[in-house]
Amino acid sequence: YSMEALSLSPPMSPPVILTQDELKKIAAYKAVEFVESGMVLGLGTGSTAKHAVDRIGELLRQGKLTNIIGIPTSKKTQEQAISLGIPLSDLDSHPTIDMAIDGADEVDPHLNLVKGRGGSLLREKMVEGACKKFVCIVDESKLVKYLGGSGLAMPVEVVPFCWKFTAKKLQNLFRDSGCVAKLRNDCKGEPFVTDNGNYIVDLYLKKDIGDLQVASDAILRIAGVVEHGMFLAMATTVIVAGELGITIKNK
Ligand code: 5RP
Repeated sequence: YSMEALSLSPPMSPPVILTQDELKKIAAYKAVEFVESGMVLGLGTGSTAKHAVDRIGELLRQGKLTNIIGIPTSKKTQEQAISLGIPLSDLDSHPTIDMAIDGADEVDPHLNLVKGRGGSLLREKMVEGACKKFVCIVDESKLVKYLGGSGLAMPVEVVPFCWKFTAKKLQNLFRDSGCVAKLRNDCKGEPFVTDNGNYIVDLYLKKDIGDLQVASDAILRIAGVVEHGMFLAMATTVIVAGELGITIKNK
């Protein structure tokens, strides 16, 4: 892939110390620079994507963007977009999307992603799979050597029916990588329920799971699985905001 680097501080000045949320906002605003009037846009979910949706709403309000149609990837983003007055539609009416902007939990050196720690992976994968361009926006803490490498969750959406059976199958599938499968709970200690009425089983891995396509196929062969959070070769561009500037990686 190609790579472009942009500095955030003028030459010879001391580097600016930015918070993680400021870096997320910088990546989000950069992505919105690629948006053109008349586009059908996939609207991502999470704290990084939220900045992009806010910015799109602001540009629409200022008349700097016109004729945008948003396709939200979650109920939360749908509510945010409605509050900003962004016209919305869905995949049934707009099966081809010009561009999506969304965050990620992990990005590997080949621009494969882990998504879904916010729980919206199924709708995100449907929408981003229908995009001509998928611009992923992250701060540099999301960069990993291999997927699962952050030690944080690799989410899998499963049907609630006998979820323990499905979780055990997932754990066994990756036992060589020291996998521990856990049901995700909400803040009240109840199972977290996705926008689609399903549960999330989070996989914690101690080692690389090897060939990602093989792993993906194996997960999807388990009958209780709806979708997993590995987004393989889907991002066309990844915008990374870090202390030293913005890096744009293209597939
Ligand atoms: C939600 C996602 C998010 O894009 C991902 O969790 C990143 O979130 P954030 O921008 O808040 O760090 O996949 O399902």
